[in-house]
Amino acid sequence: MAETNVQELLHQTQEADLLRFTTAGSVDDGKSTMIGRLIYDSKGIYEDQLESVIQASKNLNRDDVDLALLLDGLRSEREQGITIDVAYRYFSTPKRRFIIADTPGHVQYTRNMVTGASTANLAVVLIDAKNGVLTQSKRHGFIASLLGIPHIVVAVNKMDLVGYDKAVFNKIRKTYSEFAAKLNITDLAYIPMSALKGDNVVNKSENMPWYKGVALLNHLENVYIGSDRNLIDFRFPVQCVNRPNQGFRGYCGQVVSGVIRVGSEIMVLPSGKKSRVKRIATYDGDLEYVFPPQSVTLCLEDEIDITRGDMIVHPRNLPKLEREFESMLVWMSDEPLRLNKQYLIKNSTNVVRARISELFYRVDPDDLHRENAETLQLNEIGRVVVDLFKAVPYDEYRKNRATGGFIIIDPMTNATLGAGMIIDRSRYRASVGNNQKKIVSKHISRKSGEVTDTDRQRLLAQKPVTIWLTGLSGSGKSTIGYGIEKRLVDDGHACYVLDGDNVRHGLNRDLGFSPKDRKENIRRIAEVARLFNESGLIVVTSFISPYRADRESARNIIGETRFFEIHIDAPVEICEERDPKGLYKKARAGEIPEFTGVSAPYESPETPSLQIATDKLDVRESVDAVIAMLKEKGILNE
Ligand code: ADX
Repeated sequence: MAETNVQELLHQTQEADLLRFTTAGSVDDGKSTMIGRLIYDSKGIYEDQLESVIQASKNLNRDDVDLALLLDGLRSEREQGITIDVAYRYFSTPKRRFIIADTPGHVQYTRNMVTGASTANLAVVLIDAKNGVLTQSKRHGFIASLLGIPHIVVAVNKMDLVGYDKAVFNKIRKTYSEFAAKLNITDLAYIPMSALKGDNVVNKSENMPWYKGVALLNHLENVYIGSDRNLIDFRFPVQCVNRPNQGFRGYCGQVVSGVIRVGSEIMVLPSGKKSRVKRIATYDGDLEYVFPPQSVTLCLEDEIDITRGDMIVHPRNLPKLEREFESMLVWMSDEPLRLNKQYLIKNSTNVVRARISELFYRVDPDDLHRENAETLQLNEIGRVVVDLFKAVPYDEYRKNRATGGFIIIDPMTNATLGAGMIIDRSRYRASVGNNQKKIVSKHISRKSGEVTDTDRQRLLAQKPVTIWLTGLSGSGKSTIGYGIEKRLVDDGHACYVLDGDNVRHGLNRDLGFSPKDRKENIRRIAEVARLFNESGLIVVTSFISPYRADRESARNIIGETRFFEIHIDAPVEICEERDPKGLYKKARAGEIPEFTGVSAPYESPETPSLQIATDKLDVRESVDAVIAMLKEKGILNE
């Protein structure tokens, strides 16, 4: 079937005119008032309900109709059987129907947002004009981008309280845009409004003539969502097997992505058995083809053993089927995450025993920096490895929100503890050039004794970091490295230098200078540096480490907060002039192949913590500069 036909058909269905959106705001940002205003001003409520709200507002002696009260009256829809408190509200205008995933204001916002947003086309992030951009506003945007919500509206609310001042709005927009530039958001709009007074929610405000854009409802009615849906990768997670009589056997479920038609070849996972679609049955009769988000019963030409949790897919477009994946995880429970504890994971229609075996880092929502962490607390977000009891079919979240998302469930209480978005590790690895292979055995898990990082830090009275020197051969790395070591030890710190030539005599004696060997060289060094750091030592590494991707992977191994990249920078001509080991000469004579700076590349750091021009500074000054930086970053006490 031609793609255009599908699009056309989608257009004809009501679904194309349905916008799902979610709202995120801190308590008192005016979320309920805004939703109330949308429903009220768009005349989406019944007269008698409105009457009672007006009456209730009067009873409270308020001039403005309190639209938040309206919502309490309407709060009825609840998802069945899910332990999360999200209420779905519906309203419509002649142009579109809307579903708002709304949540009680005082309950934890992150949790609600994640749950409500998993199918949302759009998120409204509310910012109180009086307060400006808070950490929470950033966190909301970050989560929305993690969730892959295609459209985001930043509603700068309570403009009435700042005199409808253009400058206030512009300042918030500038601050937030600078932050959002680091996120993966394609469509971001800013609307100044007062939900309480009704400015720019449904009706365009006359109080802000400087704002040339449209009111929120107008934006919601017109935002283009036709291409938000995945029509490529056919995925049909089986919800149940329907066998009313001997003559009929069908598999019920929802087409979460892709298109399938009668006669198409399919494959069932995890068994890998193939068949063809015989019938597509619905309550309203059979269909020739289906697309998301229709719920149907598929009948196959062959009798195959299929159960709930299996996935029917197209044999030439397969999801991953593995026992382990990496993901971003939003923790939603008061009880912190416990590594290696047994939890349940729900992904598509599968519920599987699983544990979180590794926490790589936690993300600071303010500046998106990665920080080392031993656990995730309520609302915190981190990158983890999930180990499953059995293989499940999944996709990368970015490619497929339906099969790439999961929630973590407490097996005892059934409470939802967290929500995750699966990351395609191979893509990630390729992008940072990380050579990390899978752990060879499944039967290895991390252990830790009773001595904590904090104990060790207290014992040695220092923060263990890795000072990663990179630069050409002859740039002065070793000299400066040993200089730093001497200075630190004289000052009472425990410090150790890992130096290229030394390490290549022992641990890395099997490695040469091809890009592949250099990568492995750096990987091993990074792992050693990490172990040394974990033991409490400050490490200085002195390796050419010419490839950016290798240094990035070292950063990942050692941990963002512990890793300080320092470029020991001297022009290659100067290094060649110095030629302390006579290697440049040999390289020029063709005796040393792949020599950095001569016949192999050196990729300078783009944003090093420090750059030291050794053609301008002497050794002492260079060491001074490093020590000053460490002090400034709070690594060494004054
Ligand atoms: S790295 O590129 O893998 O980081 P590393 O710092 O360990 O290199 O080793 C560099 C040292 O090995 C140089 O200081 C030099 O003494 C020696 N060496 C031998 N052959 C080469 C080469 N082809 N390129 C660079 N350094 C080399």
